[in-house]
Amino acid sequence: MDEISSVLTRFNGRSAVALQAPDGAQAVLLLQGAQLVSWRARDGRERLYLSDSAVYADGQAVRGGVPVVFPQFEKRGPLQRHGFARVLPWTLERADVSREGALAVLRLESSDITLAQWPHRFAAELTVNVSNERLDVELEVENTGDAPLSFTAALHTYLRVHEVEEASLEGLRGQTYLDSLTGREAMQGLGAVTVEDEVDRIYWGHPEHDRTLLLREPGRTLAIDQQNFPDTVVWNPWTEKALAMADLPPSDFRRFLCVEAAAIGEPVQLAAGEAWWGRQTLRTQP
Ligand code: BG6
Repeated sequence: MDEISSVLTRFNGRSAVALQAPDGAQAVLLLQGAQLVSWRARDGRERLYLSDSAVYADGQAVRGGVPVVFPQFEKRGPLQRHGFARVLPWTLERADVSREGALAVLRLESSDITLAQWPHRFAAELTVNVSNERLDVELEVENTGDAPLSFTAALHTYLRVHEVEEASLEGLRGQTYLDSLTGREAMQGLGAVTVEDEVDRIYWGHPEHDRTLLLREPGRTLAIDQQNFPDTVVWNPWTEKALAMADLPPSDFRRFLCVEAAAIGEPVQLAAGEAWWGRQTLRTQP
């Protein structure tokens, strides 16, 4: 059953979508940026980090949740950092609740605003599905113009942790990464990724290989799958960068680790009429 009107709500004064699966799993998304700001699996515990100092205003990025980075990762191009998708209003296309869970589809199409910055016609859809112990977030992009286009993208997921120094991210052993802080490539050794200082890395993947990572903390583990997103960004600003961020309480860098499903190293190329999708799935572990 289509439930668009029943899922529309307000969140910190902004238009939002509240999803509630029959089993109790929940998610909240802002229409601005199609940005997830909350996800609770069936156990009721919040799994995304959202800053208490986040700014809710037209055109301003919200610190936390799952910002959608499109059509440019970071400053790898002429656009504002991380592109325009996260600061533009998306529309709610569909909302469904069934025995399997709750789903929302949000859409952003090229407009005079986007064409003035990026001369390509596109339609992007973000599909969010919440049920039981899992959250699926899928970004689909279609080239609706008559010329090829290319883009980079990421689901910039802020995973909530109790204490970032006690967390570890497994699954990247032996993988090559770009250390964005030094500009040098390096290789992850045998150990898991841990955070004891600023971390800003792009782990390069193979476009045909999907990845599963495990975020472990004392007492709980989260599995993170990515499909069609070859790369993984791991980011934590640590003390000094956090102090310089007006929308982050000074010690809150301890409360999250960003693990981003991304397509950066090889930009996605779409001929006219072609489409691409990439997905990140979060699963709480028993
Ligand atoms: C990460 C980048 O993806 O996003 C970092 O790797 C960047 O370099 C971070 O600082 C946050 O970006 P923003 O624009 O949301 O402050």
